[in-house]
Formats: sequence, C-alpha cells, structure tokens
Amino acid sequence: MHEVIQELGKKRKLARLGGGERRIAAQHGRGKLTARERIAILLDEDSFEEWDTFVEHRCTDFGMQDKTIPGDGVVTGYGTINGRLVFVYSQDFTVFGGSLSESNAEKICKVMDHAMKTGVPVIGINDSGGARIQEGVASLGGYAEVFQRNVLASGVIPQISLVMGPCAGGAVYSPAITDFIFMVQDTSYMFVTGPDVVRTVTHEDVTAEDLGGATTHTTKSGVADLAFENDVAALLMTRRFFNFLPQNNRQGPPRRKSFDNSARTDPVLDTLVPDNPNQPYDMKELIGKVVDEEDFFELQPDYARNLIIGFGRFQGMTVALVANQPMVLAGCLDISASIKGARFVRFCDAFSIPIVTFVDVPGFMPGTGQEYGGIITHGAKLLYAYAECTVPKITVITRKAYGGAYDVMASKHLRGDVNLAWPCAEIAVMGPKGAVEIIFREDARDTELLEKREQEYRKKFANPFVAGRRGYVDDVILPRDTRKRICRSLAMLGNKRLDNPWKKHGNIPL
Ligand code: HXC
Repeated sequence: MHEVIQELGKKRKLARLGGGERRIAAQHGRGKLTARERIAILLDEDSFEEWDTFVEHRCTDFGMQDKTIPGDGVVTGYGTINGRLVFVYSQDFTVFGGSLSESNAEKICKVMDHAMKTGVPVIGINDSGGARIQEGVASLGGYAEVFQRNVLASGVIPQISLVMGPCAGGAVYSPAITDFIFMVQDTSYMFVTGPDVVRTVTHEDVTAEDLGGATTHTTKSGVADLAFENDVAALLMTRRFFNFLPQNNRQGPPRRKSFDNSARTDPVLDTLVPDNPNQPYDMKELIGKVVDEEDFFELQPDYARNLIIGFGRFQGMTVALVANQPMVLAGCLDISASIKGARFVRFCDAFSIPIVTFVDVPGFMPGTGQEYGGIITHGAKLLYAYAECTVPKITVITRKAYGGAYDVMASKHLRGDVNLAWPCAEIAVMGPKGAVEIIFREDARDTELLEKREQEYRKKFANPFVAGRRGYVDDVILPRDTRKRICRSLAMLGNKRLDNPWKKHGNIPL
C-alpha cells in the first residue's frame, strides 16, 4: 500500500507541474499566473476538489502518442468562494498552449453537467491557443459540446468567464454566451480572427491588443464587462462580484446581514438635481447614497456610459441598479446603452434579482448613425426586457422622463411595481422647448411669445403631477427619502408572484 500511495503522490506531482518548469517560468514571464495558481486565489483556501487530474488525450497523430501530460491542459473541479459552492475550470497554457482537445472538453463538460445538476455557478478561466490543432474535428466537436452546455445553463446557473490569455477563433463563443466576461489588461485578448488574417482579408494593420484587448472590449465593443490590471486583481474582484450572485434560478438573490439603516435619509439628495434642467449631475452619487454601505459593483463602467448598470444591496439583499447618466449624452438611450441595459435586465429577471431603475432620460438618441445602426431594433430590446421581466421593479424618476424612453425605463405601463418621482421630475412627451416649437410653429418668429408658451408648458406638463393624477407614479417623494422608500417597497414586494403567459420562448428583437 505504501508504494501505491507513493506512486499516487508522484503522479499528482507530475500533473501539478503541467507543461513543466520552463513553461511555467514563461507563463510567469508574461505576467500571468498558472491555471492552479489562479484557482488558489479565486477559491477559499483549501476548498478546491480537483477532478480528472489524470485524464490524458487520446490523439495518436503527429507524434502525440508520445506526448501526454496528465490533466491535458485544463484544471477542473469545485470549491467555495466565501463559503458558497462554485464549479471551475482553468485552462493551463503550459500544456499544449491550453488548447482544447476532445478529452479536455470532456473535463469541462463534466463540471458543467454537475453544476447544472446541483444548481451551482460555473467560472471558466480562459487561457488557450484554441482548438487542439493535432486533433482536428474532435476538438471542434469538443467546443460545440461546451457551447451547447453554455446555452442550456444560461438562465439556470450564473456563468462567469475570466479571459486571462488568448481566446481566439470560435473559442470566443463560449465566453460570449456566459453572463459576464472579465479580462486582464495587456495579457488577454479575444477575437474571431487574429491580426494576420485581418491584414490579409481587410488590409487593416492592427495589433492584437487594439483588435481584441481588454480596453477594446470594455470601451468599444462592450463584449467584456470589466478589465483588471493583472490576474490577482481580476481574481479577487471576481470573488467580490460572486457574493452578489444567486446560486441558481430557484434560490433568489443572496442576503447577508446589513449594518446600514433602512430608514436612513440623506438631505444632500435634495440638492443633487440642479435648478437648470440642462445642467448634468452625477447619477452615481445617488446610487452610492442609497445602497447599503455605499457598496455599488458597477459593470461595463467604460462602455455606453450614458446608462449605468450594476449590483448593490438594500437591507443586505442583492438588487440590480439601472440608471440613466445625465453626465454622458444627457442620459439619452442609444444603441449601445439599450443593448447593455437589456442584457443586464434579462440576467436579473432570469435569476430573480429585483431591479431598481433611476430615470433621467431626455429620449432616444436621434441621428442617422443611430437609425442606420438599428436603434429601433436595439431600443426595442430594452423595452422587451423590461416588459417581460417579472421580478420586483421599483422606478424612481429623478428628473426627465420623456417620450418613448419614459415608457421603456420600467414605467408603470410595463408592470413597474412601485413608481416614484422626485418633485423636480418632468414627465412628458418631450422637453418644453421642443414641444412648443412644434405645437406653436406659427409663433416661431416671436421669441418672446415662444418663451412665454414654453413657461406655460413647463408649468403644466414638466412636473410629476400630471402622471401622478393618473396613478402612473405612485407617489412624489422627497429625494432625501429615496433609500427608505426603496427599502420599504422591496420589503413589500418580497413575495411578489407574477407569471407570463406560457410560451416556448418569446422572440426578442435580436
Ligand atoms: C496545439 C498549441 C495550440 C493549438 C498553441 N499551442 N496553440 N498546440 N493546438 N491550437 C502550443 C504551441 O505549439 C506551443 O507548444 C505552446 O502551445 C505555446 O504556444 P506558443 O506559440 O509558443 O506561445 P505564444 O508565442 O504565446 O503564442 C500563443 C498563440 C499561438 C498566439 C495562442 O500559440 C497561436 O497562434 N496558436 C494557434 C492559434 C490557433 O490558430 N488556434 C486555432 C484557432 S481556431 P510548445 O510545445 O512549443 O510549448 C479555433 C477554432 C475553434 O480555435 C472553433 C470552435 C468552434
């Protein structure tokens, strides 16, 4: 027995060495951690249960039969993050460049299948040269097996992708299907085809970083949610982010003890909105002041900055926040903001996370750029997402709620449960200036008269009471009471039940 145990120890040691000291040093030289080092930081100490340590590939072409490394380029298993279960897989770039073989894919699928059976989230750490070239179609089949599971798991368990190295070709589609993608500055990239192919096909000269680096995907494409300075920062922030997520679509949002008074008021909010309706203010200030302990985890902070999305807590419970940002494009809804908001709202609805929406929106963004880009279809995504969503929805209109954007932003008509407005709210078809220029076109030359008409319009319509008289807003509240009113509303909605009509699935305007 002693010998067998010694043999096991040797085998494990060999597996833990992955592609060997030289390749580990090269990995460190690139500023990257190894697959196992990453798992050690991501999970609670000593919680990792590794599976399939001894799996090897079955390829016999190109001399591969003589080149086997236990584990075959991906480390898989489960562990805990702050005591909560999570399945993980971490591609090992030191073994055949972390490339995906048939056996390697089977390992990933095994943890995904268990995650589905047990209702536990999956975190995938991507660092791979893509399909194992020596295996050909067996490897491509492996990818498709992973994609299929990603799709079936979508909306059942949260899936997070950490991209911490190359992720190219069709391999990008697994992270793309998952709920959140975090990248690392300078060491990770995602693209469908690399710079060489781009040069040949489109004659564009572009670096890998510019084509698909962390900055590109968190500012231009919106493919990734967050970018971090290095592996350690990415892994530690993932641990913090994980605390906000439910385990699955049956459990509801996590709750933890809150030390923040739910009746806390904040007089500073009474002066947050400037007197001049054209002057911006920072919506993040409001969010920070109302959530528990000012702890707001923002997603996509550098993409479509005119819409803020992220998680906070009220009375210890995870709540989603969606808010127009008047500091950027006056808070208008454009294509990017609509897509960003829609995907987030759908995630929250799938996982029963209540949504608090702060509204200050002058409308949808006008212009040929937006129309040619399909603002109609993309704007409809956000409308669709809010309309189909059945989780508790609380809306606070802080200032402008104009036109179609009023309807879209979790209005009463889209089954908003509690719709509140600040006294400075302006709820109308459009802003006073635009409105009088249309309905009093004949007075266009008489600026004095037009100004008078504008004042009249403002007095009559640019306030929350017209909507209030119809019950479209449930109450007009003091800004300082916002947290208190949200906390009470969430408590009241604790047992909300609302079902949509049966269907296989709807047809969201994709
Ligand atoms: C097998 C691979 C590999 C792959 C890398 N390696 N990619 N082995 N299959 N796909 C091996 C290398 O041979 C090398 O082995 C080791 O991994 C490290 O690779 P290097 O090239 O030395 O590293 P680096 O210079 O950092 O370059 C990384 C890289 C490059 C940019 C990822 O390796 C590369 O371009 N690889 C091929 C990428 C690719 O075209 N993949 C197929 C994409 S198509 P040794 O033994 O020397 O250490 C695809 C389709 C998916 O993935 C479809 C899904 C539907």
